[in-house]
Amino acid sequence: MSDKIIFLDNGATSFPKPEEVYAFMDQFYRKYGVNPGRSGYDLCVEAGQMVEQTRKMLAAFFNHKHPDRVCFSYNSTDALNLAIFGLVKEGDHVITTTLEHNSVLRPLYHLGLERRVEVDHVPFDGRGFVDPGEFPKRFKKNTSLVVINHASNVLGTIQPLKAIGRHCRERGVPFVIDASQSAGKIPIDMEDSFLDVVVFTGHKSLLGPTGIGGLAVRDGINIRFTRAGGTGVRSAQRTHLEEYPYRLEYGTTNVVGVAGLHAGLKWIEAKGLSAIHDEEMRLTRVLRDGLARIEGVQLYCQDDLTDHIAVLPFNVVGFEATHTATMLDVDYNIASRSGLHCAPMVHEQLGTDKIGGAVRFGVGPFNTEDHIRVAIGGVKDIAELQKKKKK
Ligand SMILES: Cc1ncc(COP(=O)(O)O)c(C=O)c1O
Repeated sequence: MSDKIIFLDNGATSFPKPEEVYAFMDQFYRKYGVNPGRSGYDLCVEAGQMVEQTRKMLAAFFNHKHPDRVCFSYNSTDALNLAIFGLVKEGDHVITTTLEHNSVLRPLYHLGLERRVEVDHVPFDGRGFVDPGEFPKRFKKNTSLVVINHASNVLGTIQPLKAIGRHCRERGVPFVIDASQSAGKIPIDMEDSFLDVVVFTGHKSLLGPTGIGGLAVRDGINIRFTRAGGTGVRSAQRTHLEEYPYRLEYGTTNVVGVAGLHAGLKWIEAKGLSAIHDEEMRLTRVLRDGLARIEGVQLYCQDDLTDHIAVLPFNVVGFEATHTATMLDVDYNIASRSGLHCAPMVHEQLGTDKIGGAVRFGVGPFNTEDHIRVAIGGVKDIAELQKKKKK
């Protein structure tokens, strides 16, 4: 066993980060780690400029014309809560999918319990995709939101945004996407795909640190603010500010987090989004092919890897997912993620909720073919063990 960890849990968070991210965060925080945009002295202005530049970079990244409508939050859970509670009112109807993460399912569940909100979950098909044709069938007069997980954090499948977005635009219903898994892996175009709100988290494929995320909000979409506080400007005003980005930002910005995200975005830009994704998918194909050849390994929705990100769920039949993950960790130093992946409805639909979920490998930009070879070897040994147990 190597003493170096083989990190195949990039679906949870990317690790390691590019050296440039660590270096920029360290330098920026030492030099300009002040409260950005709150005062007129040089350090403050400098910190504020980096924050504003990062908004511009994110706006360009999502093809959004209004950088001031890119708001920072702690992570995508925080941003999804802002969007969901700020768009849905008592007695409304919401359409979502069974692919969602708890950061969508739970806010909606609470709205159902506490504010009589009706929630419709569109199921995915046998390949892991939702059918855009299901959405128009479900619209009601009081539908106030469609929210979907762009790329499943369990199956890796990329959902057909544009077709769903077109239906929502025609009906005038706000369309929110949870881009936690997709931002930094594949292009996201707010204009072309009729997106109203894109929610992102900094610490996954955008290669920044934890504690930073946000949402990009299309012009014309006015999310009610559900929190209020200091914005650093117009302090005499009693109410929270209506205009973006202040509308959805509260208190001191996580300036070191924004710095890390800034450096992550630059790194992605330098390497090229599609070059990173293509290499991750090449490794995922090698992994999928290797696992598919092992007797006793069950894969889920991995037959055709087109419209996929580099996330691969599997089980060794006969072992609970956590046991397989523990063996991979202890015996091979491989980090993976087992369980329900905060997406219980996916596992309910697959039937894997009854066997403790699945093991998930998430391939990232710093994985190599060697890592994949060791992972396949490890799973093969575990499957052999299971065969011997049966005899
Ligand atoms: C699809 C999806 N949505 C939301 C989240 C929540 O992200 P965060 O913990 O950064 O808020 C995750 C993280 O695992 C995710 O995969």
